[in-house]
Amino acid sequence: MTVTAVMNLKGGPGKTALVNGLAHAAAAKDEDVLVGDVDPQGNTTSHLTGHNARNLPPTGTLADVLDRRVNRPLEDIVVPARTRDRIYVAPSGFGEMQEVQDTLLGQTGGDLSLRRAFKEARKNGRVLFDCRPAVDLITRAAMLASDNVLIVVAPEFDHIEGMISVFTAINDLYEFADYELRVAGVVINLLDGSRSDHAGNVDYIREYCAKAGVPVLGLPIPRLADISRLTNAGLGMDQHPKPSARTRWLAENFAAILDGIDKEAA
Ligand SMILES: Nc1ncnc2c1ncn2[C@@H]1O[C@H](COP(=O)(O)OP(=O)(O)OP(=O)(O)O)[C@@H](O)[C@H]1O
Ligand SMILES: [Mg+2]
Repeated sequence: MTVTAVMNLKGGPGKTALVNGLAHAAAAKDEDVLVGDVDPQGNTTSHLTGHNARNLPPTGTLADVLDRRVNRPLEDIVVPARTRDRIYVAPSGFGEMQEVQDTLLGQTGGDLSLRRAFKEARKNGRVLFDCRPAVDLITRAAMLASDNVLIVVAPEFDHIEGMISVFTAINDLYEFADYELRVAGVVINLLDGSRSDHAGNVDYIREYCAKAGVPVLGLPIPRLADISRLTNAGLGMDQHPKPSARTRWLAENFAAILDGIDKEAA
């Protein structure tokens, strides 16, 4: 099954919201999906499991998997999401992720550690990595464990810069590690339909992607309070207590993005 790293090197375009929407879209199709929370902020972990830095999962975290002094197998730390069957979470180690990364820096295969850890898990279902907005060893490890990357971008200058930096990071992997990582697509999020600068930036993103030969997947996702509320509660768009045409559209759009990733991966 496909392993996808959801990325932008700018903070806040909606990587975590997209991972949530895609995980629910996969589960709605009766697919098993494992969310690897490789962001020390651990937002996905707290939304989907209720655990956080002050209340770490009792079975351990990705920090225990990556820390060679602990060397815990991935399957020991994976927990089911509290909000939907078929979604599983490899919880973030929160603050411990940084310390573990420091220990891995000088070790053989440090940046292949997630590839090794997820080798078996990827045979059982889709994997989505929720990455932090920086290329550190853990992010590189997630890239090297992935088949493709999904870039999320808001139609703002800084976010577009963050998108371009992901393309650069992927080129660096090709040039310096001989590793070919595909961009499955770009998703535009946090669109404000009343702003003409947003419309211009959407055009710019579409042109940039067309030149790079990368599809823009789904329709641009508007800024909507429901997306934030549902994501923070670890819920899918189809789990809104009062479903509407809009929440149905959002669920369909996430499903279309997921299909787009699979089409690119095929
Ligand atoms: N389409 C949207 N409409 C409204 N709110 C959104 C939308 N997408 C994301 N948000 C909200 O915007 C904030 C940033 O989104 P999110 O945390 O998903 O971004 P991120 O890229 O994961 O950030 P970070 O780089 O910190 O990991 C969150 O509060 C989230 O709930
Ligand atoms: Mg995030």
